Amino acid sequence: MSQNKQRYTITAALPYTNGPIHIGHLAGVYVPADIYARYLRLTGNDVAFMCGSDEHGVAIPMRAKKEGVSPQDIIDKYHGIIKKSFEDFGISFDNYSRTSAEIHHKTASDFFKKLYEDGEFVEEVTEQLYDAEADQFLADRFVVGTCPKCGHEEAYGDQCENCGSSLSGTELINPKSKITGNVPTLKQTKHWFLPLDKYSDFLNEWIVEGHKKDWKPNVHGQVKSWVDDGLRPRAVTRDLDWGIPVPVEGAEGKVLYVWFDAPIGYISATKEWAAREGKDWEPYWKDENTKLVHFIGKDNIVFHCIIFPSMLKAHGDYILPDNVPANEFLNLEGNKLSTSKNWAVWLHEYLEDFPGKEDVLRYTLTANAPESKDNDFTWKDFQTRNNSELVAILGNFINRVIVLTHKYYDGIVPESAGNYEELEQVKHFPDVIASSIERYRFREASQELMNLARLGNKFLQDNEPWKKIKEDPETVKGIMYVALQIASAIAVLSEPFLPFTANKLKNMLSLDTDLGWNDISTKYILIPTGHKINPAELLFDKIDDKTIQAQLDKLEATKKANEAANRVPDPQKEIATFDDFTKLDLRVGTIIEAEKVRKTKKLLKLTVDTGLDKRTIVSGIAESFTPEEVIGKRVTVLINLAPRAFKKAKADSQGMILMTETPEGKLVFVNPDEDNVKNGETIN
Ligand code: MF3
Ligand code: ZN
Repeated sequence: MSQNKQRYTITAALPYTNGPIHIGHLAGVYVPADIYARYLRLTGNDVAFMCGSDEHGVAIPMRAKKEGVSPQDIIDKYHGIIKKSFEDFGISFDNYSRTSAEIHHKTASDFFKKLYEDGEFVEEVTEQLYDAEADQFLADRFVVGTCPKCGHEEAYGDQCENCGSSLSGTELINPKSKITGNVPTLKQTKHWFLPLDKYSDFLNEWIVEGHKKDWKPNVHGQVKSWVDDGLRPRAVTRDLDWGIPVPVEGAEGKVLYVWFDAPIGYISATKEWAAREGKDWEPYWKDENTKLVHFIGKDNIVFHCIIFPSMLKAHGDYILPDNVPANEFLNLEGNKLSTSKNWAVWLHEYLEDFPGKEDVLRYTLTANAPESKDNDFTWKDFQTRNNSELVAILGNFINRVIVLTHKYYDGIVPESAGNYEELEQVKHFPDVIASSIERYRFREASQELMNLARLGNKFLQDNEPWKKIKEDPETVKGIMYVALQIASAIAVLSEPFLPFTANKLKNMLSLDTDLGWNDISTKYILIPTGHKINPAELLFDKIDDKTIQAQLDKLEATKKANEAANRVPDPQKEIATFDDFTKLDLRVGTIIEAEKVRKTKKLLKLTVDTGLDKRTIVSGIAESFTPEEVIGKRVTVLINLAPRAFKKAKADSQGMILMTETPEGKLVFVNPDEDNVKNGETIN
């Protein structure tokens, strides 16, 4: 456990400002990073927790085009939304910057210049994909095609999201421009490459050999396979008009590759923060004793473990990360989270539906974090974590302690009545939780916190002060004293996980705000006899089935909308001759009676006036219409279909009514669009 003050630079992946953020971002990167940063501050370390918006690259102009606005409009809009979401959820960045900031342009530009002047780049003219109509080179996401490695048809010019391989546009099979849909041509252009092959031995020694044990297996494994496959030079410039101009002569119209400038954003953010705080930024990036930790999602591993470290190494002045605890992905109700398919729980929407429940989401995402494998977020699990853990265990314990202290002692902490083993047990928790956090096992850590609340709950349950208060008030004082110490420990140790709750708890207990993590194990008394506490506030409340169902319904509606948007007509059937067609006797008719067929879901028994007769037709339309709705409807009827017996309707169906359906699956009658057509008219 860190007893001594240690300097930490903690970074969380800079989110692209091409859309709002959702639970996947929070679970994979920002909540774990925040738990870590808060814990380190509570244990007295010197922490710089840095993040900001990633505002360059192809994604931004593409989104701008889609919304019909300028790239600047896009970054301003989403920077604002994202920044607010982070604040709302208590992500305690020391600085949230943005890569469009002047200080970042300068820092990234200088970084490039230094590498350029030191001869660290290879300059090369190569043929790149070009869209003549748009007069633009097709970098990265501006081109899609078939992945040469796995055959996925929607691979991008920089990466295949299906198999994870990193690609260059010219490797794609059947490439197509995302701008015009045209097949691109090849055109020569000059770029600067970072020769990653030069860093292969260094990476092998430092990560593959050196961090076998302490880096997560998923991270170590990915790096090893990249290095084993052989690293190749990687272009760090692009032909694009959105980004940081390449700061050398002969590079007009070219910008830095977004993955070159973005990680330097961690450094720019630190500079900006230090200037504001009157600190020196350099030790945070240059002092060998500083621990640099990058929190990222698994799709960012290569950039943070191979490319950025090679850049830092090439530069020479910077420290390398101590660890890169990348997480796997979070799914939502069994499907991949997707911004374009709107398959997500957006943070700003969550807060509209669950105001004041920031900690509930933080807790659920931590308890179920995708640390070692992809994981699924389900609304049912969210409800259970809330109702059975936060409400029934933590909230219940705290509420009993506060309410009983007011009831028995007017809110004054009573005298201790001897030692209870629980007081000793509480002292272990700071170390147990710390050990999990320091090994980046945040799920485990959150469960240990819940175990502390369980300990408190069980203590009250076993000792039943509410039964003893009459005949044995002295013993009850001792019990309540112990329970108040446990509650105080929870107030401190819950802060990294549940910052809003921890605050309320400290208020309720009127706790000394200086009480730190390590005081729990060293101080015998956390909340002293005679101390006055405040009234109880509600920490958590139950979430009912209806509320959960509403969220599930919302997702169901999204699914339907996606299906509707992607609906393609059935292919043409085999050829019918004219004779085949004339065999069908189609007539105009009117439904004159209708009733539901009992014990069936789909069937209505109809009486249809066909102009020739009034006959019974059993039709599978009850999920789209009530009987009342269809009476009087004009319809098209196939009247010479061989009759078919329907047992449940106790009738033969003598024909078929022609229907089609909406994209949402609602049935629609096919009928003449003139009222003046008589029943019995032939359709041909
Ligand atoms: N914007 C990238 C993403 O969302 C992450 C950038 S991390 C940084 O995948 F290191 F480049 F900043
Ligand atoms: Zn692939």
